Amino acid sequence: MSRFIRPNRSRGQRGAIRGSSQSRSAVPKWGRGTDKGRFNAKGGSKILIEPHRHPGIYIAKSKEDLLVTKNMVTGESVYGEKRITIEDNLDGKTEYRVWNPFRSKLAAAILGGIDRIHIAPGSKVLYLGAASGTTVSHVSDIVGPNGLVFAVEFSQRSGRDLLNVAKKRTNIIPIIEDARHPQKYRMIVSMVDTIFADVAQPDQARIVGINAHYYLKHRGYVVISIKANCIDSTAQPEAVFAEELMKLQREMIRPQEQLTLEPYERDHAVVVGIYRPDRKQKYD
Ligand SMILES: C[S@@+](CC[C@H](N)C(=O)[O-])C[C@H]1O[C@@H](n2cnc3c(N)ncnc32)[C@H](O)[C@@H]1O
Repeated sequence: MSRFIRPNRSRGQRGAIRGSSQSRSAVPKWGRGTDKGRFNAKGGSKILIEPHRHPGIYIAKSKEDLLVTKNMVTGESVYGEKRITIEDNLDGKTEYRVWNPFRSKLAAAILGGIDRIHIAPGSKVLYLGAASGTTVSHVSDIVGPNGLVFAVEFSQRSGRDLLNVAKKRTNIIPIIEDARHPQKYRMIVSMVDTIFADVAQPDQARIVGINAHYYLKHRGYVVISIKANCIDSTAQPEAVFAEELMKLQREMIRPQEQLTLEPYERDHAVVVGIYRPDRKQKYD
């Protein structure tokens, strides 16, 4: 386990898939609106699926390499993303969904080379800021049938889409509540391995902290996306990120890794930290 805050190392590496042997010449041309459609790769065709070094994530290797997750609900896209069907004599048909880093900060962090995401098959994840379920659906694919995603979203509008995603994906527990009040979902959420947060709020560190005090196991992990200008639009992003790290430490979260999300998102960082509460202290 690395115990360091790593400076960003992903600048300028557009789309390079870390964890694979992909060369930069094979970098896909990602776009926000170009992910509709479907591939079929029957025996003998050119798409190969290779496991990524993060368990539960794969790379579809063809003319361009794509980050993909194994579809929990075969035949269904969630937000218009492409699906790739692989057929072979051993396993029959398996379907994968393409994960676009321009639409998901977690995908952007993975393509940027994040060391550990602490989300794997069987994980229990508390996801704060679920929106319509775009990234949540890929987390649901990763954790699979033995894992759980408690997905918290306070907007009624996005919450409706999230509820629809969760109807088909039984490992997603949708919670339409304000993450500032975790006691409101105490009857639903159990202890979790990891908290993923993408609420884009100025008090995000506090929101993560209070949820950790309620639901994160000792030595569990947080993975937080920080949008600098949501916290302080007048300060330099680096100063905002440094201030957020200090706030996390006050919540007993020790930062271990940090990376920025260029070229997919400007002035965003993802921070990974380990939760080590003082067992004698009471948290509210
Ligand atoms: C940047 S978007 C999340 C995008 C999402 N993570 C994805 O990748 O698909 C932030 C979301 O957090 C939600 N949010 C903000 N503050 C919240 C709070 N206090 N409680 C619950 N949800 C919140 C917003 O309504 C919004 O949908």
